[in-house]
Amino acid sequence: MTNPTAPASPALSQDELKTLVGQAALRFVVPGEIIGVGSGSTVNKFIEALASMKGQIKGVVSASEASTARLRAVGIPVFDANEVGELAVYIDGADEIDPHGNMIKGGGAALTREKIVAAQSRQFVCIVDESKLVQTLGKFPVPVEVIPMAVQRLIRQFAAMGGSARVRCKALGTGQEPLVTDNGQVLLDVSGLQVSDPLAFESQVSQWPGVVTVGVFAFQKAQVCLLAAANGVKTLTF
Ligand code: 5RP
Repeated sequence: MTNPTAPASPALSQDELKTLVGQAALRFVVPGEIIGVGSGSTVNKFIEALASMKGQIKGVVSASEASTARLRAVGIPVFDANEVGELAVYIDGADEIDPHGNMIKGGGAALTREKIVAAQSRQFVCIVDESKLVQTLGKFPVPVEVIPMAVQRLIRQFAAMGGSARVRCKALGTGQEPLVTDNGQVLLDVSGLQVSDPLAFESQVSQWPGVVTVGVFAFQKAQVCLLAAANGVKTLTF
C-alpha cells in the first residue's frame, strides 16, 4: 500500500494526487464513529481508501446520491442525517480553498447537502490537490442552488454585483436541459466575482429569496486542509 505521508514523485498526475490525498485523509477517520463524507472525484478516492477501514467505523452520513451509491457498493453503512447526532469529522473536496480555509464548493452539484453535513460535523477536513489553493475565491464560478422560479431575478441580482450567472446544464450531448440537483432544484454558476470577504458574501447571498444554498463555505469553512502536491501531502490548519 502507498504510504500517504511519503514524498510524492514529481511526475504525479492530478488523478494520482487525488488518490494520495484520499488515502492521507484516513488518519482523520475516528474509529467507532459515524463520519460525514462529501462528494466529487477526490472523495471517490477517499471512499476507495475508506473501504479498507469499513469494519472500524459505524458508518457514514453521505452528501450526495452518487457518494451513497459508491459507499454502499463497498459495504459501508450509510445513515440518514436525521438518524444521527453530531458527527466527529466531515471529509470533502473543494473547487477552491483560500489560506483561511474558506472554500468554493458545488462543482459536483452537491453543495446543499455538503453544507448540511459539514454543519453537523465537529471538524471539516478538506482534501484537495494544490491547484485548488487560491489567494482570493472567485476564479472558479460560484455555484448557487436556487428555486427555479427565482432564476431570472437572481441572475439580475448577481449582475448588479458584477457577476455573470448562468443556469448549469446537463452534460454535453444531452442538449441544453438544466441540471436538476438531488434536491430537485437548479444551479446558477456565477463567474466574474472576487469573493474577498467570504463571510459577508455568504451572509448576503443566502438571504436573497429563492437562494437555497450558496457555494461559498465560510460559516462552514475547513479546519484542516490536506493539500496534495508533487512533493507530498501538506497539512494546513486554520
Ligand atoms: C461537489 C463538490 C466537490 O467537492 C468539488 O466540486 C471538488 O470536486 P473534485 O474533487 O471532483 O475536484 O463541491 O459539489
